[in-house]
Amino acid sequence: MHVTHLSLADFRSYARVEVPLDPGVSVFVGANGQGKTNLVEAVGYLATLGSHRASSDAPLVRMGAERAIVRAAVRQGERSQLVELELNPGRANRARINRSSQVRPRDVLGIVRTVLFAPEDLALVKGDPGERRRFLDEMITARSPRMAGVRSDYERVLRQRNTLLKSAAMARRHGGRSMDLSTLDVWDQHLARVGAELLAQRLDLVATLQPLADKAYEQLAPGGGPVALEYKSAVPGAHGREALYEGLLAAMAEVRKQEIERGVTLVGPHRDDLVLKLGELPAKGYASHGESWSYALALRLASYDLLRGEGNEPVLVLDDVFAELDARRRERLAELVAPGEQVLVTAAVDDDVPGVLAGARYGVAEGSVERL
Ligand SMILES: Nc1ncnc2c1ncn2[C@@H]1O[C@H](COP(=O)(O)OP(=O)(O)OP(=O)(O)O)[C@@H](O)[C@H]1O
Ligand SMILES: [Mg+2]
Repeated sequence: MHVTHLSLADFRSYARVEVPLDPGVSVFVGANGQGKTNLVEAVGYLATLGSHRASSDAPLVRMGAERAIVRAAVRQGERSQLVELELNPGRANRARINRSSQVRPRDVLGIVRTVLFAPEDLALVKGDPGERRRFLDEMITARSPRMAGVRSDYERVLRQRNTLLKSAAMARRHGGRSMDLSTLDVWDQHLARVGAELLAQRLDLVATLQPLADKAYEQLAPGGGPVALEYKSAVPGAHGREALYEGLLAAMAEVRKQEIERGVTLVGPHRDDLVLKLGELPAKGYASHGESWSYALALRLASYDLLRGEGNEPVLVLDDVFAELDARRRERLAELVAPGEQVLVTAAVDDDVPGVLAGARYGVAEGSVERL
């Protein structure tokens, strides 16, 4: 798929901007702080309902404005669609498809698909497990948009179970009656049921991604691998939803006493990690800066390979990545992404963008975007 038109109102630094886009490569060039990343961040938001650099929507709304609007015309094969999201920080966001009446924001998932490369990706390798869980969950949602519902169910059940555990912990501390544990049993089952579905999807994704990541790393840094992705959970070795469900229940039973003492859920997909191994060692804590970068890029390239292989080709977004790479990796990355159906590149310095990425050029300055 590709975006044929992007339109923003009160998004980040933009009061209003209209950007017609072609398939193939588009490069957005401009000095620091002019709004290049803001543009591609908006495209990414349509694909994930989140930003790659803000954990809430508030910073996405232009200072002083009440709401932001992100709208895109999208073409997939012969089909054209218009998606629109209205961001209302602190209140429910709204969404529309083809100007019709409102749909839930999550109903727009799957219309715009992106794989976004950004300097923030280094945190995939060097950062906390939460970064890698988010990577996995965004990918499972890109593969199967209905997983957005499963993810939000899981979060809801987890919150409710934690509330229950907290009140149990309080009751204990104040010497009150111990709580009726049958209620907790019910929440255990809910959590294990939804958790098993999430886990099954993550495990399937990791297995599918593994050979693609290894191949991508070899292309970026020949001879530097192999890379291996190891999913770490409370139910190692379990596969299939039923086994995962039983495994999660058993794991919860084992830690129930600590959970009641601490008032939080200690096992489940929200505590898992994806261990990224380079050779024999985990990349986190061991890999060099350049190796970590190559690893992060390899994960994104693998994601691109996977999504493209499963049908609907995603838009590739390369936000400011070339400046971070040495000349050889720059060329290799550029060659790998150049054939993409649509590739959006941002750069502060035009010369950083390799020649194979010739295409449309846009100048970005002070909240306006002009085709050069
Ligand atoms: N909610 C907001 N309201 C108004 N301005 C904002 C908002 N969020 C960000 N900005 C402004 O947008 C600018 C950053 O834009 P952006 O990150 O797109 O820059 P860039 O062109 O990608 O720069 P660089 O080359 O440094 O990456 C900053 O000047 C910032 O102050
Ligand atoms: Mg930027």
